[in-house]
Amino acid sequence: MKYLAYTLLGLLMVSCQSEKINQTFSSPDGKVKVRVFETDSNQLAYTMNFNGQPVILESTLGLELREHGFIGKGLKLLSIDSTGKNELWYPLWGEDGVVHDRHRSYTLHLQHTDGLLLNIQFRLFDDGIGFRYELPNQPGTEELIVDNEYSQFRLTGDHTAWWIPADYDSYEYLYQTTRVSKIDSSLVDGSLLAATTIMEKHAVNTPFTMKTEKGLHISIHEAALTNYPDMTLRIEEDKRTLTSSLVPSTLNGWKARVTTPFRTPWRTIQVGQTAGDLLESKLILNLNEPNKLSQTDWIKPGKYIGIWWEMHLQTSSWDYASGKHGATTAKAKKYIDFAAKHGFDGVLVEGWNTGWERWIGFPDREGVFDFVTPYPDYDLREVANYAQQKGVSLIMHHETSAAPRTYEQQLDTAYSLMKELGIHAVKTGYVGPIIPEGEYHHGQWMVNHYRKVLAKAAQSEVMIIAHEPIKATGIRRTYPNMVAREGLRGSEFNSPWGGGNPPEHLTIVPFTRMLGGPIDYTPGLFKLNLNEYKQGASVPTTLAYQLAEYVVVYSPVQMASDLIEHYEGHPAFQFIKDVPTDWDASKVVAAEIGEYVVIARLGKNSYDWYLGGITDENARELNIPLSFLQNGVHYEAQIYRDADNADFETNPSAYTIETQKVQKGDTLLLKMARGGGVAIRFKAL
Ligand code: NOJ
Ligand code: CA
Repeated sequence: MKYLAYTLLGLLMVSCQSEKINQTFSSPDGKVKVRVFETDSNQLAYTMNFNGQPVILESTLGLELREHGFIGKGLKLLSIDSTGKNELWYPLWGEDGVVHDRHRSYTLHLQHTDGLLLNIQFRLFDDGIGFRYELPNQPGTEELIVDNEYSQFRLTGDHTAWWIPADYDSYEYLYQTTRVSKIDSSLVDGSLLAATTIMEKHAVNTPFTMKTEKGLHISIHEAALTNYPDMTLRIEEDKRTLTSSLVPSTLNGWKARVTTPFRTPWRTIQVGQTAGDLLESKLILNLNEPNKLSQTDWIKPGKYIGIWWEMHLQTSSWDYASGKHGATTAKAKKYIDFAAKHGFDGVLVEGWNTGWERWIGFPDREGVFDFVTPYPDYDLREVANYAQQKGVSLIMHHETSAAPRTYEQQLDTAYSLMKELGIHAVKTGYVGPIIPEGEYHHGQWMVNHYRKVLAKAAQSEVMIIAHEPIKATGIRRTYPNMVAREGLRGSEFNSPWGGGNPPEHLTIVPFTRMLGGPIDYTPGLFKLNLNEYKQGASVPTTLAYQLAEYVVVYSPVQMASDLIEHYEGHPAFQFIKDVPTDWDASKVVAAEIGEYVVIARLGKNSYDWYLGGITDENARELNIPLSFLQNGVHYEAQIYRDADNADFETNPSAYTIETQKVQKGDTLLLKMARGGGVAIRFKAL
């Protein structure tokens, strides 16, 4: 396979300034077309087509700047630049060992009636587009207040949509499946969330994925979210038009404050014939800047266990005063021993530091958490030494309780401590409403906070696993120490008090949240009947489904989240030990959003393929052609499947392990129970 790397550079001269803007741009193979033009009322607008079919009808563009008013009408086109790319790049880690970036890029240099210069850049790929606004450096623009952005996406019909509400503070929702016209936040339940702010009823967060009547899959999201708020999408009265609605700072009364030169994040529209096309697309990553870090040998994918689930089962607690403190030196050592014995790379210890007596539910959480002082029954240095001796890495935990200023004050000391102890990963957390009031998890101020922490971590050679984060927009390409984040309703909701994640959940997540990037879902619960913790409680999936999560849900760091005792005596644990977290290739083998998904991945520098399949609350049989396997290689398929009598509600733990010789060209019948799944290792022989 040989690709020619090239860059095209051109300057399309624009003839007459009094003529209306009207330009058509094309992706490299011509599949995607964008027309940028002025409407009858001189409003700048665009349309987008895919394979000759309209995807986005006439939709307007523009920004509202406090100092200049609305910028999107009566603009003068000065010139257009065009460039292109056709190259391969190699991510440090990822779903695929190599990424192909082939696109054409067009920049319209525009001038507002008051003289302000504005560029709009379009990048066309064969599977979608990105566009963004640029404010070049120019006199009088040292500080600009962005009051609104009006990027529209006018749909061609009342598509089926998978959505979560436009909450300014949380993405931890189950997905709703409705027509676009029926989107309404009163359908969602946010009662268990520690922080939630929904200001617009008919609005969603992104990635926002839809399917048209003709079966086309479309997803709207953003890439490279930097120094700007999260873009949510408001559904207008016509029920067809989505308009960008930025998360505000109500404290300051603006959406963003910027200095020039400035670029908004890319607004992205991905299109695919199948749901799998969306997931295999590299558009979001390609719209991000290349790796900024020169030294990266400390960034390592891997698997971890942790003192974690017991707090969610409420058999122990994070805080010391409760008298049932979970994070003790002795228990940490026990976890380290287990990790060493079973080949896990890391151990996470939550509740090791002081402050947990006054976190969730306390309005005044400033100055409460201390990121260097352990509780008396946890000897951090002894544990760190012990881990080092056993060849296991500690994963630091920093719960900020949404008091980012307190965290920022301690960044230097906290990260120096990690450096001193040789700790290269931290799980951060932001539970609760942001302090100060009027700032939100997804606003510009917090976007900048998360980035500051990420940059600090990079300097200190630390990988970040962020919980309650800003959404994933491909920043992992630029900062490959941004290994994983939550930003969805994770497995913690399977606790006896969490309401559970119904089996349908993870058949939607790959085509919505996961289009943004890696997820710290914390899979691998083996004890599914939770009666002993709370009468009637259970995890609503089968055990084979839990195994399949390791392949279906992508992350370079994966947790085995159950108590270590719960893995004892389970032959199925072998799959968790075997499954890699870094891949050379990933393929969506079969999927129907909200019903089932089957994904196959090739281990990094390995011949072994792994497959994960899960289904919703319906049992399913799928005939899977093993076309992804390598020609001429014989494999032993080690199949972990639901037992014939398994059922997520009545018999979730029953599984069968069987082996079979297979090769490319064979077809495998996958049988999944209600709420079930299947996990397969194809071991090259
Ligand atoms: C919420 C996180 O999602 C969870 O993983 C963690 O245990 C708690 N916060 C405490 O930090
Ligand atoms: Ca959470």
